[in-house]
Amino acid sequence: MLLGTQRINEQGHLEVGGCDTVRLAAEFGTPLYVMDEALIRQNCRDYRTAFERRYPRNVICYASKAFLTKAFCAIVEEEGLNLDVASLGELYTALSAGFPPERINLHGNNKSREELEAAVRARVGHVVIDHLQEIDQLAAVAHAAGAQMDVLVRCTPGVDPHTHKLISTGQADTKFGLNIQDGSAMEGIRRVLASDHLRFDGIHCHVGSQLLDTEAHEGAVDIMVHLMERIRAEFGVDTNVLNIGGGLGVRYRSDQRPPSFDAFAEAITSRLKMRLTEARLPWPVLQQEPGRAIVGEAGLTLYTAGAIKTVPIPQAPGHRTYVSVDGGMSDNPRPQLYDAVYEIIVANRAAEPCDREVAIAGKHCETDVLIWSAAAPEIQPGDIIAVQTTGAYNYSMASNYNRLPRPAVVLVENGRADLIVERETLEDLVRHDVTPARLRIHGRRRRAGKAPGAALAD
Ligand code: LLP
Repeated sequence: MLLGTQRINEQGHLEVGGCDTVRLAAEFGTPLYVMDEALIRQNCRDYRTAFERRYPRNVICYASKAFLTKAFCAIVEEEGLNLDVASLGELYTALSAGFPPERINLHGNNKSREELEAAVRARVGHVVIDHLQEIDQLAAVAHAAGAQMDVLVRCTPGVDPHTHKLISTGQADTKFGLNIQDGSAMEGIRRVLASDHLRFDGIHCHVGSQLLDTEAHEGAVDIMVHLMERIRAEFGVDTNVLNIGGGLGVRYRSDQRPPSFDAFAEAITSRLKMRLTEARLPWPVLQQEPGRAIVGEAGLTLYTAGAIKTVPIPQAPGHRTYVSVDGGMSDNPRPQLYDAVYEIIVANRAAEPCDREVAIAGKHCETDVLIWSAAAPEIQPGDIIAVQTTGAYNYSMASNYNRLPRPAVVLVENGRADLIVERETLEDLVRHDVTPARLRIHGRRRRAGKAPGAALAD
């Protein structure tokens, strides 16, 4: 599976964005996240045009939780996408990159006062209301700032998206949004309409993530258009924005077949137009929040192979080879959390036949197997292993478990590699540690003459 600008070069090495990944590993070290700028830009454009061609009133808000850095904001901005943020940190990143606030939607099922205040101060495009109490909270903050804020009301359509339970959100039993069936959604809209400091601009739903068919989205469209009819009948207002969230899946493995952008757009817009015509409603602005579909396939992670061991197992073929790499669940927690699957390319042996089956394991102090069964050529310690499709929810979910510094991120394009996130240092790991005087080893048990960290420096 070669994705985006990936190809195998004359040395038999994996290349992406015109850069030899073996050289990238040598220059920037491993683990290393590598992002393919051309594919990101192409995904932004193709997703947008797939919808625009069929439904011109169309706004794409990139879901920044999938991957966000300041440099990345510039790409999203240049490609004409809006931004969905779901925390003060994401909002801060976007604003400090200079992203236009009126093109930002703020999400969150439990927004803090600080988050609401920051959103109002910046005058973000929309605040997405997630629960009834938030309506008064936001109205009070807007009142204090002399502002009137545009809001969307997040609703739970009650559809089951058939994906991993931890990334299903459209079903009724969820912490997200206002339930449509029990009347909470209509009550929320009524309260927003009654507020002087809020302006009801539309409704929102998000059914789930990594969806490999269009069924749940189509079901959600039916339910949301029906809700628009009720809003018109009950309150006499038209819904200006219908936001149907994100969720389109990507290829983690070559046997996965998510709908193309065109097939996805066709299914959704034809269903939407049909339902709007039946209900005799004007066309709302269709907003969406794809995250994974924009960046998932555009990222790969480079690791260096280290310890390799073959152990006997009861099932066929009677043994398993573990290839341990220099990262693991700290840079990619998805296999542990969602049973996520991945494929590899051994970057320095990319032209060799994949006639083995190996497990790719991390280096953490638990069974952090990244891939239980990966097709590979014979791997030697020191080989560079590229794990495919790590662009979404890898860097953004990385941790310092076992005090591993978080990897660097490079953006590659046309033979150029730009560092967009520096690798964390050991110093970064202790930067926020605070040692009260009574717990200082310094001058007590430590051998004289050695500075903290000296053992490592020796
Ligand atoms: N909009 C809302 C309100 C969301 O909650 C999400 C994802 C998105 C948009 C973007 O969904 P996407 O297009 O990326 O599927 N950490 C998990 C995914 C969690 C998704 C949470 N919400 C993973 O690694 O699979």
